[in-house]
Parts: sequence; structure tokens; C-alpha cells
Amino acid sequence: MGSDSTPFVLRWGILGAGHISSVFIKDLLLDPKTRDVLDVAHKVVAIGSRDATKAREYADRTVPGDKDVKAYGSYEELVNDEAVDAVYIGTPHTHHYNCAALALRAKKHVLCEKPFTSNAAELRSLIAIAKENNVFLMEAMWTRFLPIAEDIKNVITEGSLGDIKVLHADLAGDFNLDAIPDTHRILDPKLGGGALLDLGPYPLVWAILALYEHKRNENTPPALISGTMLKTPRTGVDSSTVFTLNFDKIEAQAILSCSITIPSPNPALTIRFRSGNIVVPAPIYRPSTYTIQYFSKPGSGDIIREEKRNFKFEGGGWHFQADEVARCIRDGKLESGVWSLDKSLLQMDIFDEVRSQAGYAFPHGVEQVV
Ligand SMILES: NC(=O)c1ccc[n+]([C@@H]2O[C@H](COP(=O)([O-])OP(=O)(O)OC[C@H]3O[C@@H](n4cnc5c(N)ncnc54)[C@H](OP(=O)(O)O)[C@@H]3O)[C@@H](O)[C@H]2O)c1
Repeated sequence: MGSDSTPFVLRWGILGAGHISSVFIKDLLLDPKTRDVLDVAHKVVAIGSRDATKAREYADRTVPGDKDVKAYGSYEELVNDEAVDAVYIGTPHTHHYNCAALALRAKKHVLCEKPFTSNAAELRSLIAIAKENNVFLMEAMWTRFLPIAEDIKNVITEGSLGDIKVLHADLAGDFNLDAIPDTHRILDPKLGGGALLDLGPYPLVWAILALYEHKRNENTPPALISGTMLKTPRTGVDSSTVFTLNFDKIEAQAILSCSITIPSPNPALTIRFRSGNIVVPAPIYRPSTYTIQYFSKPGSGDIIREEKRNFKFEGGGWHFQADEVARCIRDGKLESGVWSLDKSLLQMDIFDEVRSQAGYAFPHGVEQVV
């Protein structure tokens, strides 16, 4: 199965009829040939919501013209549908653990939205459950699968910019907090609200790609993590967070930030080397272009040449991660080699540490594993 002439088709069940699930479905429905993918394809076979009427309406709206799509009024029914191979989890952060565990125990492969879980202990538990049930598990860290990300990684690896020294990355946006209620997932601590868990994965994915994955770093976690938060008096969640990571083995640092009160600076990602820079415009979750700047000599800062690279594709960009999931499942892999579980665990360990240093604890009972 899965040769060029007959693509391997992954059958998806969508858990949670919310915003990002609809965005993901749209990309799943796009013909993979539009991105030159011939070996895998996707089919949405079922939607699961806590409300059956909502599920039906959502299925009709997001998968128009396919009356065979099942609509379930509970997540349990969705994960037990035999036609579902893989479950995509699109619920709020603090519900990821229970939803993913439910699907894994039903022996479904799982792609779970970012941040993977509320804390690292929950993720360690999910990894154990996936292993027990012999199923695939991955965080939906879609940015890591964009062609531009692989291209930037290749430039870093190829080495013409010299030693990597500092990475600055920011993802921020004005969420118009005055117009949203305290119960909105971005403000509610019971739903893991705040900038760090919602936007922090994006500056961090670039730090992981450039520094943690750096060939000389040999996947060594940062020796030092430090973070501070500004919290909104409304609900106590972080409205702005700054965190830094020291990668001692390669003598390089990441300076990362996120905010829900202001837009990102532009450029929003700069990777600084001895002999040049990689400069990426905002928003860093899906950049479509970047520039390589070369210095006249190492350490000079005098830019003598710039090379701009552009990346265009059809769709929103969420389909590249789906292709990875399909290929891994087709090939019998239990985790992705690109966005492997150690990277998600590193993310969650960093978030735990930053929240601990800044005094952001979730309300009692939110964390399912501590
Ligand atoms: N990858 C990306 O680009 C991206 C972008 C945005 C968000 N996300 C992530 O996706 C997740 C969902 O975000 P979203 O913006 O899609 O949220 P959303 O629009 O509020 O949808 C979340 C859905 O989760 C379900 N849900 C289950 N328990 C819930 C509860 N207690 N309160 C509210 N909803 C509950 C609801 O579906 P039912 O009513 O159908 O059960 C709801 O529609 C978050 O973890 C976020 O970080 C990722």
C-alpha cells in the first residue's frame, strides 16, 4: 500500500468541533498533489463533539458534500469508530491529556494540538499509554514541517554562516482582551490560558530546530532555563512572557518571547552566527520568506550579501504535519523522527520551569497528572 500510484489513505477522526479543527480539516481536504505529495492522502471520516447537533452541523459545514462523514455527540463514540485510524485532538490545552488518553486507549493513533499537555508529567503519562497500546503519538507542531523550516535547518547545518550564537524569536498578537470574557480559553487558567502555552511553542520550535537539533548539540537539553511573566490582573494568566535557554554544549543562547497584548516585532526571528544572520519576518508560525545575510568577515557585522528565499504552497500549511503522520503510520512508526516525542517533552519541561519560576500555577484539579 502507498506506492506512487495508490497513495496510502489515512482516515481521520476529528475530536472537538472548534476553530483549529476546522482549519486542519480544510487542509486535509486539499488534494495532496497540489503540494507534489503522491504517496499519502487523507480522508475525514468522523467528527466528535460534546453535542450531537453541533457535530452534525460542523461536519456538514467543514466537509461539505460528503454525507458519509459520521457526526458523534461524544468523544467516546468518535474514538471507538472502527473506520477511524487516527484522531486529531483540537480541544483546549488542559483537555488534551484526557482526550488523547481516551483515543490512545481505544488504540487510535493520535495527533494532538499544541501545547501537547498542561505539564510534562501529563505528557510522560501519554507517552506511556501510547507505548502500552502500540500506537503513534505526535504533537501538532505544524511549523516544524513547513518546507521553509527544513530549508533553514539545512542552511544552519551546511555551516557557511559559521558558529551559531544567538537566536531571538517572538510570537505575539493583540487578542483584544477587553472584548473577550474571562472564560475565554486565552484568559481562563482552568483552560491553561495565557501567552506561554498558546504562543510560546512557536518561538520555542525555532530554538529547538536551530539549537537543540544542532548537530554539535547532540540533542542536549538547555543547561539553564530562565523566565519571567507579566500577568493580567483579570485572571492571573501571563499576558507577556520572556524566557531564555542556554545551550552550553554549542555555546549558544535562545532569547524567546510571547504576548497576547501586542503584535510581534518584525522581523520576528533572527538567528545570529559568527559570519551572518538568518532573518525571518512575522508571523513565525508560518513564514513564507526569509533572508540570509553574509558578513564581510567573521564577527564584522558588515553585511556584504543578502539572499532572499521564498516559499509558496497551496493551503494553510497544516497539511505537511498530516502527511508526516500518514507516512509514519503507513511505515509502522510510533513517533515522528522530525518532531519526535523528546522535543515535545523538552517543550513541556521548559514551560513547567518557566511557569514555576514566574509563579503561574494552574487551579487545583486542572492537571490530570502531577
Ligand atoms: N496549530 C495551530 O495553528 C493552532 C491555532 C489555534 C489553536 N490551536 C490549539 O488548538 C486548541 C484549541 O484551540 P481553538 O482555538 O480551536 O479553540 P476553540 O475554538 O475554543 O475550540 C475548542 C473545542 O474544544 C472542545 N472543548 C472541549 N472541552 C471544552 C471546554 N471545557 N471549553 C471549551 N471547549 C471545549 C469544544 O468542542 P465541542 O464543543 O465540539 O466538544 C470546542 O469547540 C488549543 O490547544 C490551541 O493551542 C492551534
